[in-house]
This record gives sequence, C-alpha cells and structure tokens, in this order.
Amino acid sequence: MASGAKLDGGGQTLLIGVREGRPHLDYWGPSLADRPDPRLTERAGPHGMLDAGEAFDLFPEAGVGFTGTPALQVSRPSGGFITQLAHQETRTRDGGLDLVLADARAGVEAVLSVNVDPATGVVAFRTRVRNLGAEPLRLDWVSPVALDLPDGEILGFGGRWAREFDVQRLRMGAGLWASEARTGRTSHHAPPFLVAGETGFGEDHGKVLALHLAWSGDHRMLVERLRDGRLQAQAGELFWPGEMILDPGALYETPTLYAALSDHGLNGLSDRLHPFVRDTILGGRLRDKPRPVHFNTWEAVYFRHELAELKALADSAAAVGAERFVLDDGWFKGRGDDTSSLGDWTPDPLKYPDGLGPLVAHVRGLGLEFGLWVEPEMANADSDLLRAHPDWILGESGRIQPLGRGQYVLDLTRPEVSEAIFGQIDALLAAQPIGYLKWDMNRDLTHPVSGGRPASHAQTRAVYALIDRLRTAHPGVEIESCASGGGRADYEILRRTDRIWTSDCNDPIERQSIQRTFSIFFPPEVMGAHVGPADSHTTARTTSLDLRAMTALFGHMGIEADVRAFAPRELEALASAIALHKALRLPLHGGRLVRQTPADPGAIAFAVIGEGAAVASLAQVETPRIAGAAPLRLTGLEPDTLYDVRLVNPPRRARAAMKRIPALVRGETVPATGRWIAHAGLPTPILRAGEIAVFHLSRSSA
Ligand code: DGJ
Repeated sequence: MASGAKLDGGGQTLLIGVREGRPHLDYWGPSLADRPDPRLTERAGPHGMLDAGEAFDLFPEAGVGFTGTPALQVSRPSGGFITQLAHQETRTRDGGLDLVLADARAGVEAVLSVNVDPATGVVAFRTRVRNLGAEPLRLDWVSPVALDLPDGEILGFGGRWAREFDVQRLRMGAGLWASEARTGRTSHHAPPFLVAGETGFGEDHGKVLALHLAWSGDHRMLVERLRDGRLQAQAGELFWPGEMILDPGALYETPTLYAALSDHGLNGLSDRLHPFVRDTILGGRLRDKPRPVHFNTWEAVYFRHELAELKALADSAAAVGAERFVLDDGWFKGRGDDTSSLGDWTPDPLKYPDGLGPLVAHVRGLGLEFGLWVEPEMANADSDLLRAHPDWILGESGRIQPLGRGQYVLDLTRPEVSEAIFGQIDALLAAQPIGYLKWDMNRDLTHPVSGGRPASHAQTRAVYALIDRLRTAHPGVEIESCASGGGRADYEILRRTDRIWTSDCNDPIERQSIQRTFSIFFPPEVMGAHVGPADSHTTARTTSLDLRAMTALFGHMGIEADVRAFAPRELEALASAIALHKALRLPLHGGRLVRQTPADPGAIAFAVIGEGAAVASLAQVETPRIAGAAPLRLTGLEPDTLYDVRLVNPPRRARAAMKRIPALVRGETVPATGRWIAHAGLPTPILRAGEIAVFHLSRSSA
C-alpha cells in the first residue's frame, strides 16, 4: 500500500513515500503544490540483477535486496544478520516526521527522523536503532539515511594541519569513494563534509547537495555508484570492532546528518546553511553580541610566559583595539614546552607566583576580557594527574601506544575522570573572571579503549557532556573549539561552542583558500581569523600587514603576533584595520557571504552583503595570468540600490604597478547601482601576488 508525507521549508518540498513497507524520498526540490503520481519514480528492471532491481530507498538494507552498501549492518552472537525492516507507522510533527520501521523476527526497530527547517530548508536526518530481541545486537554501521545524489561531480573535503579545508573535485566513475576519520576527532584529513552536484557547478550555478555529519569523533562518509547507475551517499559513525553492542531494549542514536539542496551553486548552499547555523545550531546566541577582537599570545610568546612581558603585550594589544586577551598554552604548572603538564590545570608557580590574578586584573583594567587556553581531554605522563592516576587514560593496559605531541587521551567515559577535570576547570573559572576558554585537542586518538572495550563513541559523548556541564555551570563563558587548528569544526561541537579556530596557518595566502572553503558551511562570525607575524611559522612566507589584516577582517578577527615588534606604520595600519572591522562588524557577521568568481584564477574574492552595505575583497594569491586587471563583477548586491563605492586600501606606491590609475583606485568614492556593479564590475588596482583590494559599499544618500 502506498502512503506518504509532504514536508516544506525554505521554499522547498520533500515528498516521502512509503511503498511496500519501504520509505522513499520521492522528491526534494522547489516547492510543490501538488503531490505527483509516484509511479513516475518507478524504474524498469534490467536483466542480470534481482527481479525487483536495485532496492535503493531511504534506508536500504541487504535483506530486502539492496546490493550496494546497506544503511544498516547488524548481527547477533548466534549468527543472524538479515534484516527486513518494514514501515509500521509515520508520526508527524511540525516540520518533521518519524518513520517507524521494524522487523520483529530480527528484533530490530529503526526510527528515521526527518526534520526540515522551515526558514532555510536544511534537512536534519537522525536514526534511532533499538534492540527488540533477547540477545545482544551488534551494530557495525548505521547511516541515518541513504541519499540519491545529483550526478556529476563531488567535492570531497580534506587537508592537513595548517592547511585545513582543502577540497578535491572528483568525477565518480564506478565503485566506492569513502572518507574516514579514525582519529577520535572531526579531523583535518577527512572532515565530514561533502558537496555533490551537476558537472561544472560553481559558486553561483548548478544543482548541488551538501551533506555534513555533525559528529566530532570517528566517522565515515561514502559515495557509491550503484549497479543501476544511481549514486548513493551515506555518512555515519565509524565503530571500532565490536564497539556498538546493544543489550536487549537498548537504543543507539546516530549523529545528525544535515543536508541542504540548492539550484544556485555553492553560494546557494551557504545562503541556507549560514542562517541555519546562526539560528538553529547556535540558537541565535551570537546575534546582537558583537564578536570581540582577540589578542592571542601563542605566536607572540609560545611557552615563554613572563608576567611583565605579557602585561606589555596586553598594553600594545589594547592600544590597537583588541577587546579580548587570550592566554594560550604555557601558563600552567611546569609547562615549559609541549612534553609535560597537561592535566595539571593550576597556574605555574614560577611563571605566575601570585597566580593568574595579577595578569587578569591588568588585562581587565585595560578594558579587555580575559580568555584562557585549556586542553581538558589530555594528560602528559609527566603530570601530577597521571602520576597519581596512571590508569586514567584511554588504552589497553600494559600496551605501549603511539603518542601525539607526547600526550595521552584521558578516559572521560569514567565518571571520576570527568569529575576531576570538571573540578579543575570549574575552579579556574570560579577563581578568576575568565570570560572565554580556548578548548584545544592536540592528538589523534589511536587506542580508544576503556575497560578493555572500544570507547570512541562514548568518549565523544563524554567530551560533549563535559563541555555542556561547564557551560551550564558558567553560562557567561564562551568557548572556542580548536584541535591543532581546525581539526574539530563541525555542527555538533558548534552547538556548544562559539568560535572555531580555523587553522594554525595565519599566512593570509593560505588563509584565503582555507577561509573560502570553510565558509561554505560556516558563517564568518565563528571563523577565528588572526593577523599573524609577517614571517609565517607554518609556511616560511613573508606577507604584508595589509594582506594579513584584510584577510582576518572577514572572520572573527584577532591578532596573534608580537605587536611590540611592529613598525609604527604597521601598528597604525593594524589599528585602522581593527577599527574598520569594528565599524563593519554588523554586515560582516550578520550579512550574506557571497564567494565571488574573479576573472583571474589566481585571485580569491568575497563579498559580505548586509542591508544597504557591503564589503568585498579581492586577494591576489598568485601572480596574475593577464597584464590588465579585470574588473571585479560583484554578484549578490541589491540590484536597485545605489551604493557609494570606495577602495578602503588604495595601494601605496600605486605607480610602481600601474601607469594609469582609475578614480576608484586613486581613493575617490564612486556611486553605482548593484546592477551596474554586477555588469561593469569595479575597477581594481593591478595587484601583484600577495596584494589585496578591499571595497566598502554603502547606500548612497545622493
Ligand atoms: C594548537 C593550537 O591550534 C594553537 O593555536 C595553539 O593553541 C597550540 N595548540 C598550543 O599548544
């Protein structure tokens, strides 16, 4: 018998049909008024396959004739593994539904929840699997759903430390593409994001589907060419052998798989995902709360903490406009380098003989908020914590495990361990007016074993619980998610944090592309972006202050350099960049971010468009291919608005790069409508590699 449901949101409709007991996503696209005849979704069955053809639906199972990767893989100790779930009922609620599927003989129930955000159309899929049988049920794989992808190309996300959010575009031939993280964190190399779309999709064109598994532990995403030519995508937690065993009656809940669909390319996806993150993932908590400009001590002093020097740094940071001082790694007991002390969260008595109080008071006296770096999930062997409790780490007792940065992962699944860490961080927050924690996580988790059993899932949940508990105890404290730079950037961590440290690479040339990809899924206000030293410690490249500052301008801006070493002219330029950021924070952090496609392939351009105001940048990250600078044809502006356009940073020594200099480039304000700017473009300076042009557009009063 056929039945079904219709869900609407963000100008789109999803039709979910149930036929012969199986759930199907019959339609996802622009709003539909009617419910088309589902027979048009039938497919002819070829020879050489099962008689019913490929049994591909929303939750495909091998037991019902699906020959690709099933969404559910389970087994019993006695050997049974066949499941044939059948639809029992559909429970509808506002904006969503639960599809209840069950197989009494296999003793398995799966409840697929589908929720459509009414404003943005972002769909959240989550599945709960319950063991209805009398024996334990082993789960090897559960993807909340399987989705039929638009065919053409996929954008796979990868990268490494200091080069996060790298993408590769692939054409899916036959077979299976999988991206897996077995490192106990969202990861640098396989972050759980994917975009699939029609061939040649770009920033503004093409049908595209975005997927994100919101999970900060081990995971797997896959795209598979099915035998009948379709492409399926799945994503779920990656379980270690025998990790997920459900006792009779027990329940497993998948992480949420978020999906967004657009007919207007990657910008169309961000138009849905950014407001969704702002309102739903962050619950609106950053709206109307201007992001304070940071000063972070890491690249200024690393582990060398000296009170007088830190105070002087705070003075210089305040003088250029910083609003929050974040004391990074190196402040706690015995921490002279990265080989010791994680786990002992009290101020180092040699560096801070009177505790953190004098520094906190100095910083706050300057009008800055005080923030502190912590890495609560970790401990070094050389720490009081592990000397007292050597068994508090994850791992198999008696086995030597490979270390990362010389440290171990604490077993937070044990209540006494979580309690002890909570106690230490809670005491720190209670002792001083600390408004911010930079929560770091710096090693791959290779031995996620607790009490002799795999515990990657439980550890990830325990990290969430620890953060939640701290947030409840200290609701005014903001938290930044960091994992060796951008190794923990996902929507589930973002539910409980306020900023993501995007990358340890502060080299603006690299940052331009890291930020471009990051911005597909995340809005600019959560993107930590710092002005680093001229010489980058991760790339050995030297860049101008203009490029560094104008690149950081587009995120949650900060400084991470020894500003005392800056030349007076640089300090002045930094101060005016920060002043500009503050003046433009509203559109920058609440507007519509539209990635641009500049004519020169060696350039990267963004525009952030607010009501009657916009900011745009064009960064030349490689030597230009052509001699003359092509105009920047900005897309996304209000076509009928007349803007006053001005180049914020007219080039110094302009004549060294160009013989003729357009009025706008000379620093004159030029009025133009959004339509005209999209058509004719903005004249740009001739930019050499490493130079940037930033334009400010404001509604003309003329
Ligand atoms: C890794 C982070 O990404 C850096 O920003 C810094 O906090 C270091 N850890 C400190 O050890």
